[in-house]
Amino acid sequence: NPHTRIGLIGFGCVGQGLFEILERHPEAGFEVVRIAVKTPTKLRALPVSRFEFQADELLHDADLDILVEVIDDAAEAFRLVSSALRLGKRVITANKAMVARHLPELLQLQRDFGGTLLYEAAVCGSIPVVRTLDSYFGQEPLRSVSGIFNGSSNYVLTRMSEGGSDYAEALAEAQAQGFAETDPTLDMAAFDPRSKAVILAAHAYGLLLNPDDVLNLGIENISSADIRYAAERGQKIKVVASLQPLPGGGATVFVTPQLVSADSPLYAVEREFNGVVVEAEFAGQHFWRGRGAGGHPTGSAVLSDLAALRNGFRYRYDKLSAAATDTAEATPDLEL
Ligand code: HSE
Repeated sequence: NPHTRIGLIGFGCVGQGLFEILERHPEAGFEVVRIAVKTPTKLRALPVSRFEFQADELLHDADLDILVEVIDDAAEAFRLVSSALRLGKRVITANKAMVARHLPELLQLQRDFGGTLLYEAAVCGSIPVVRTLDSYFGQEPLRSVSGIFNGSSNYVLTRMSEGGSDYAEALAEAQAQGFAETDPTLDMAAFDPRSKAVILAAHAYGLLLNPDDVLNLGIENISSADIRYAAERGQKIKVVASLQPLPGGGATVFVTPQLVSADSPLYAVEREFNGVVVEAEFAGQHFWRGRGAGGHPTGSAVLSDLAALRNGFRYRYDKLSAAATDTAEATPDLEL
């Protein structure tokens, strides 16, 4: 039973996490046979000879069964992933900004050239929300999807509420622990969870939203006094992504700091953890709490996609086929 041969593009936090997982569990049957990085000479845990190929060479390597793209740069990620799909390849990405911005084109490329793209790792790391919404809930109407989709900002809010750390100190801690994006504005101003909300809107409601149409407010202006005020009322301030369907079609999607009460499952989601709440018409409430960042949790999502791809899985997008795909109003007028 020969191993499934993987071409890995990117060897940062997620790439290394995946590599370690696959090394530790050879019985999973996946082997990283080529790794491409931007700067092969950078000091890493592997000898420099492991990085002798360019990403573009991996795209054209007929010996590779699956390409895994885990680089930071969204524009370069789109160039690589779209090129691979044009070659009919099977591809996994963890790049949420890229998927959120280019999903319509990525879908078209898969239809035109027969390739497959999976991206469980792009949304809330190890929480299996994309495939669950797509496949398990492919037919069932959902009343809402909401959650804490960003670990770094949640970490900062938790540290601030524990007393002591101010915003800048808490952010430095999140960065030191490797949860934060290279550009921390993406986390703190809620661009990162906005991308995840846009991706989930496609699977939950069949909507292809432009990320720019979705309101995102982060935590830069939340003070310790705000957090104390919430605590005095028995509440916490959390950055919550909210996706609510509208009766006539479309959905209201936004990501903002909100007051969360103890009766919400999100109240107990602290530190770098993520939480997702789904309210389904027949299933009722589902709640997941899990790790949304870091090499091993995100690598776990990629591992799951690898196994799914090997079994011939592709997202079904049932609701997208069902919904009229004309662009919906993403964010209504909100009183803030
Ligand atoms: N920077 C992200 C977070 C990592 O803090 O949640 C996963 O997208």
